[in-house]
Amino acid sequence: MKRIFIASRGNPEHLASLFRAELPTHEVLTAAPEKNAPPVPYIVVGRPPPGIIASVPGLEVVLSLNAGIEHLLSSGEVPAGLPIVRLVDDGLAEGMADWVLAHALSWHRNLGLYRDQQAKGEWAPQQEKLARERTVVVLGAGALGAPIAEHFVRFGFNTRVWSRSGRKVAGAEAFRNDQLMDAVRGADILVNLLPSTAETADIVDATVLAALNQGAFVINGGRGTAIVDADLIAALDSGHLSGAALDVFRTEPLLADHPFWKHPKIMISPHVAAPTHAHTAVKEMAENIRRYERGEALTHVVDRNLGY
Ligand code: NDP
Ligand code: OXD
Repeated sequence: MKRIFIASRGNPEHLASLFRAELPTHEVLTAAPEKNAPPVPYIVVGRPPPGIIASVPGLEVVLSLNAGIEHLLSSGEVPAGLPIVRLVDDGLAEGMADWVLAHALSWHRNLGLYRDQQAKGEWAPQQEKLARERTVVVLGAGALGAPIAEHFVRFGFNTRVWSRSGRKVAGAEAFRNDQLMDAVRGADILVNLLPSTAETADIVDATVLAALNQGAFVINGGRGTAIVDADLIAALDSGHLSGAALDVFRTEPLLADHPFWKHPKIMISPHVAAPTHAHTAVKEMAENIRRYERGEALTHVVDRNLGY
């Protein structure tokens, strides 16, 4: 009987019961196995306590409960050669789409502005634009970025996607990673859905922000490391940007004295854009385990050289 160890600090018993339903022939553990215990080929982790992964006997695959796995690479916790499978599932994609579109459409139709006007008893219609008069650039065309770009296309926005390989999304204009400035120039909405890697660090800086249209809006659902905080604040304060919606930060929770908290043009959410939904995540992981046991290749294995 193959064994799976759930090393999540969240609700391991709930995850274990879902795994038992999906894979009734497997033994599911929620406590760390002894050193000399029979092999445990699979571990399911979020942000595991230090040393846990290396302590598991006979480990073959690390299954992440998150899409972003930079913490597993940077900690050096996962021995070289062990595959890390990141989470790609419908629950994450649907959640991220809701969050990004809620902010984008709210900004596009001036809903925040009208709310402020309402508080002042002010009746001041703005010149409302059509989606087709706006340009959106999505940085990252992966499991989350691509479907979001498709949603923007469906709504009628001029949509651009920027990715390392220039991945295509139907109806959108695709740009490769050496075309960043072409991708962002003249955009009204910038959405960041890049993973945190050495290459994506500080990518949204003063130069990129200056290339956006006057009054543009920035949405960050990827990682805080992509945006230079001080450059974002400067662009908001100068009036070049009209606002930003931020779900992810360089340090989480966001430090109590960080200027983002009180900035009138910034909307903060506490890393909830696309939370992991246990039922969709476990289905996906169980399917990958079945695939692996049939001798097929695992899907969504992290490329350690690329860092995502
Ligand atoms: P994917 O790995 O599927 O996609 C990543 C995309 O980024 C790909 O299109 C890739 O290009 C592109 N990319 C990577 N490096 C570069 C680079 N140097 N230059 C240009 N493009 C690059 O990731 P997901 O879509 O699943 O997730 C994206 C990120 O979203 C996660 O890594 C995580 O940080 C964040 N996230 C945030 C959540 C939240 O709640 N806020 C929840 C879940 C995820 P290519 O297509 O060529 O490989
Ligand atoms: C993430 C996640 O990577 O929650 O942020 O999956």
